[in-house]
Amino acid sequence: MQKQYNWGIIGAGGIANVFATDLKLLPGARLHAIASRSAERAEAFAQKHHIPVSYGSWEEMAADPDVDIVYVATLHPYHFENTLSCLKAGKAVLCEKPITMNSRELKVLVDTARENGVFLMEALWTRFLPSVLKVLEIAESGELGALYDIYADFGERMEYDPDHRMYDLAQGGGALLDIGIYPVFLALLMAGIPERIEAIAGFSENGVDQRCNMILEHNQHVVSSLNCTVLADSPVEATLVFEKGWIRMESWWLTPGPITIHRPGREPEFMEFTNMSPDGVPGQGKGYQYEAAEVMRCLDEGLTESPLLPLDFSRKLTGTLDRIRKICGIRYPQDDQDPRDH
Ligand SMILES: NC(=O)c1ccc[n+]([C@@H]2O[C@H](COP(=O)([O-])OP(=O)(O)OC[C@H]3O[C@@H](n4cnc5c(N)ncnc54)[C@H](OP(=O)(O)O)[C@@H]3O)[C@@H](O)[C@H]2O)c1
Repeated sequence: MQKQYNWGIIGAGGIANVFATDLKLLPGARLHAIASRSAERAEAFAQKHHIPVSYGSWEEMAADPDVDIVYVATLHPYHFENTLSCLKAGKAVLCEKPITMNSRELKVLVDTARENGVFLMEALWTRFLPSVLKVLEIAESGELGALYDIYADFGERMEYDPDHRMYDLAQGGGALLDIGIYPVFLALLMAGIPERIEAIAGFSENGVDQRCNMILEHNQHVVSSLNCTVLADSPVEATLVFEKGWIRMESWWLTPGPITIHRPGREPEFMEFTNMSPDGVPGQGKGYQYEAAEVMRCLDEGLTESPLLPLDFSRKLTGTLDRIRKICGIRYPQDDQDPRDH
């Protein structure tokens, strides 16, 4: 019989709503509790998603003995404290991206998870999408030869508004950590940690990065050309150029979508991937069910990390974002704090 897991969610905001809807597709998942700073918001979220327990503080989630897995869906600066409290209470955690503000915070979380033997994974949902699994399969098969170049962008226009989280440094605002993380993630997934980085950023009048253009030189001569911006909508495409062809991950590449494989002398091969529920019903969900299913698969198998997205990958990703930020002068209050003082 399939094991049932009780999920809790911390943060009753935008992405929590989407995730909660997708979680209902998984028969092994039971949405048990929601925690918000506001009891009213928690209660409204609970009613909307038929969740039996709602808490008016984040801290109560860690204390609930019935919760097996916590999805941390607060803003980036709060990921550290929310995740740490749950790990200390022995709960498995799936934490939204970026998992922490910097590598120092992440080290504390990784050490805590490993010392306590508790599962932890960054919620980089793109890693588990069928399109990305297919791209990796083709790349690893060697049929297209060596990988040479990676191009990836993520641009989404967001009007300047110093009250919005995107334009507030105290709330982790800025393009790189919010959306630039996706192109950097793809580059690391395909080509590993970069040996050399060149990067430039542009800032809003209150000092938040609005755009960042990056060149990453990986080993074996792979070069990634990446950019993110909140100044304009961009194609949001990714192209992987190999010795014997290229793969285009079509627009909004980081979400469930089609890819096209171009081979010399042949018609391009267009591949579509329909979201499926676990029982094979097509057209279901927004694609967040795959990462949630991976957490439960790992727990079924007694794993404390996902082999597809291990903590060492998150450390490489966070470390690369730290390096890019240093080159561009993107700083947050957390960079001047010792996370152990929390
Ligand atoms: N995987 C994806 O596709 C995806 C998409 C969007 C966002 N995200 C990530 O998910 C996280 C949440 O993003 P979101 O768009 O859902 O954000 P959001 O709706 O603006 O806020 C999420 C939660 O953060 C807390 N929060 C908001 N403003 C706060 C403040 N001023 N001080 C303290 N807490 C505050 C609130 O928790 P309470 O309810 O407890 O008050 C809120 O419900 C971010 O880290 C983002 O990077 C991921």
